[in-house]
Amino acid sequence: MISSAGIPDVVPAGRMAGTGQPVLALPGGLELRPWSPDDAGALLAAGQDPAIRRWNLFTVADRAEAVRRIERMHERRRAETGAVWAVARPGGEALGLIGCNDLDLAGGSAEIVYWVLPAARGVGIVVEATRALSRWALDDLGLHRLRLCHSTANPASCRVAEKAGYTLEGTMRGALLHEDGWHDQHLHALVKSDL
Ligand SMILES: CC(C)(COP(=O)(O)OP(=O)(O)OC[C@H]1O[C@@H](n2cnc3c(N)ncnc32)[C@H](O)[C@@H]1OP(=O)(O)O)[C@@H](O)C(=O)NCCC(=O)NCCS
Repeated sequence: MISSAGIPDVVPAGRMAGTGQPVLALPGGLELRPWSPDDAGALLAAGQDPAIRRWNLFTVADRAEAVRRIERMHERRRAETGAVWAVARPGGEALGLIGCNDLDLAGGSAEIVYWVLPAARGVGIVVEATRALSRWALDDLGLHRLRLCHSTANPASCRVAEKAGYTLEGTMRGALLHEDGWHDQHLHALVKSDL
């Protein structure tokens, strides 16, 4: 489509929904794969984890809500407004989540979000997942810019962003309301020419 200003869409509508969700291999034998209803237990565990509740503002009341949230992930992908993967060993349970939120195909951008369950933390999984998802989003899907935002009080997420190649562009003041008040957020980004 061409906008009223004569600028073509960066990624044509239908490109993502028109293909299946790929499985993306990670170093160390892990992979990014679509969420399945069988992952409801892992999503429920994430919703009970204090760090994920705190930093991702993510809660899940019960298994039924977890199943609905997984269905919603697939609906958002079909609507081309989001694309979310489970981080897992092949054939294994979900260990974490990574995805593109606020996906804007026409404008060529998305926001990267992630978390990993406590047992899988501390071994660099999310850095590798962020690298793999970024390559897919910029090279395969064809987006132009990915942003990654985190509270300035979350240095682990800042390190993940830096190690995955996301440049720190600045601090957004009072950007997100957490339980303990407004947090400043770092804005990191990766643009296609950075790869
Ligand atoms: C933040 C999170 C995604 C990091 O994922 P991870 O794969 O466990 O990352 P790792 O612990 O392997 O750490 C990656 C890097 O951050 C560093 N790091 C970890 N904790 C840190 C801290 N508190 N301060 C500074 N650096 C830290 C690690 O040392 C590592 O860097 P290095 O390889 O140079 O040593 C994960 O801990 C998590 O899900 N936390 C809870 C929810 C959350 O914070 N979500 C993100 C919202 S923006």
